Amino acid sequence: MGSKNNASYNDQAHFSELGRRIEAPPIAWLMEQKLKHPDLISLAAGFTDSPSLPVKEVQTIFAKITKSNKRAMECLQYGVGAGRDQLRQQTAEQVAGLDVSAPEGPCYKPDRVIITHGSQQFLYLLTEALCDENDIVLVEAPSYFVYLGILQSFDTKTRSVPMDSDGMNLESLKKTLEELRQSGEIRKVKMLYLVSYFQNPTGISTSLEKKKAILRLVKSYEKHAGHPIYILEDAAYRELKFPDTPETPSMLTLPGARQRVIYSGTYSKSFATGIRIGFALLPSPLRTVVMRIKGNHDFGTANLLQSILEEALDSGLYQSHLNRLQSRYQSKARHMQKCIQRSFPDEIEWAGPAGGLYFWAKAPKNISTGPRSPLFKKALKERVMYVPGVYTYAKDLNTHDCDNAMRISFGNASLEDIRQGIERLGSALNAQCSRKK
Ligand SMILES: Cc1ncc(COP(=O)(O)O)c(C=O)c1O
Repeated sequence: MGSKNNASYNDQAHFSELGRRIEAPPIAWLMEQKLKHPDLISLAAGFTDSPSLPVKEVQTIFAKITKSNKRAMECLQYGVGAGRDQLRQQTAEQVAGLDVSAPEGPCYKPDRVIITHGSQQFLYLLTEALCDENDIVLVEAPSYFVYLGILQSFDTKTRSVPMDSDGMNLESLKKTLEELRQSGEIRKVKMLYLVSYFQNPTGISTSLEKKKAILRLVKSYEKHAGHPIYILEDAAYRELKFPDTPETPSMLTLPGARQRVIYSGTYSKSFATGIRIGFALLPSPLRTVVMRIKGNHDFGTANLLQSILEEALDSGLYQSHLNRLQSRYQSKARHMQKCIQRSFPDEIEWAGPAGGLYFWAKAPKNISTGPRSPLFKKALKERVMYVPGVYTYAKDLNTHDCDNAMRISFGNASLEDIRQGIERLGSALNAQCSRKK
């Protein structure tokens, strides 16, 4: 009898539609591999550099904010849904400071800011606020695969737009919008999602010229859509630029951005991923709805963690930490680049990034990099792992066309692991390339 009952518990028929639809994230499978093979060098994880986490800074800050009972009690209490006033003010100034070229702007007002539990939470809340089943979001091909997972869970459809070395291919974007207009599906298009700085997974940044053209083009289709089409500029890696990389203004600097551009950012990559503080700047009607949904999720992001960030920004510890971090990632990226030059066969196309955490490499078309491919198996045998490129393309594409790329991260691996990992991956690639000759 017991087993009969257990059998019915395993049945998922009583789950919600979303509960039945949601797929396991690919990263879970990759993490499982790492647990199964502890000696594996993972160049797959999107984790940041552990030795440079701001341990001393956080110890100092924590001592300071808990020294007086009054301040400690305030930090240990529930906060407000939109986020702490001071942190919203600091965040608005921080983004405006990066966008120095901005026509001093209504876009950077603290009452447009919302603080979230990582920018990941914001991506979820925003999609929940905007998208129903069968709505459409335009995405880069490839794109941030965890966001693609959110879209899949809502049964929101994607239209993929290929990328050039400076962002979305405009001809393809135009062609896609035109096709959607002709089929009438333009009414379903809610948003275009762009990871505009040192993109995850390719490392590509969108140029200002492209940002202008994308905004103009998308706006020109709104009359056919019959509603606003938003642009979500996900700037998660913006502050991880290398020290000598010039700053590119965000889309918030562009005329007409105030009602259409949603900017999301995070302190998670630039300070501490474990603190999980993200933020967004967005038009007010949408912000109100996102805040209501956030209220249902959590009543507001952890007050204590927001206070740590406030103090880090206020004391200058944030900026000094970030300066060191940018140099650290640059030297790790240079190291990885040298290792790749030494170990990868000539057939592999790759380009070094100017910030962020990732290299993107492409094998010849006839070599699959997928999770079941001989290359991936050989790499696992050599005890090294990468993110198969196929995970980073939305399902509206034919996966055969995007099965030969890989994302390789220098974020978390030590210099020695980068050396050994790239050597092992090089050996797997060389074996595969010579077999296909
Ligand atoms: C492009 C992109 N956006 C958003 C996030 C979410 O980061 P967090 O929730 O730590 O702010 C990530 C994390 O890897 C990312 O790669």
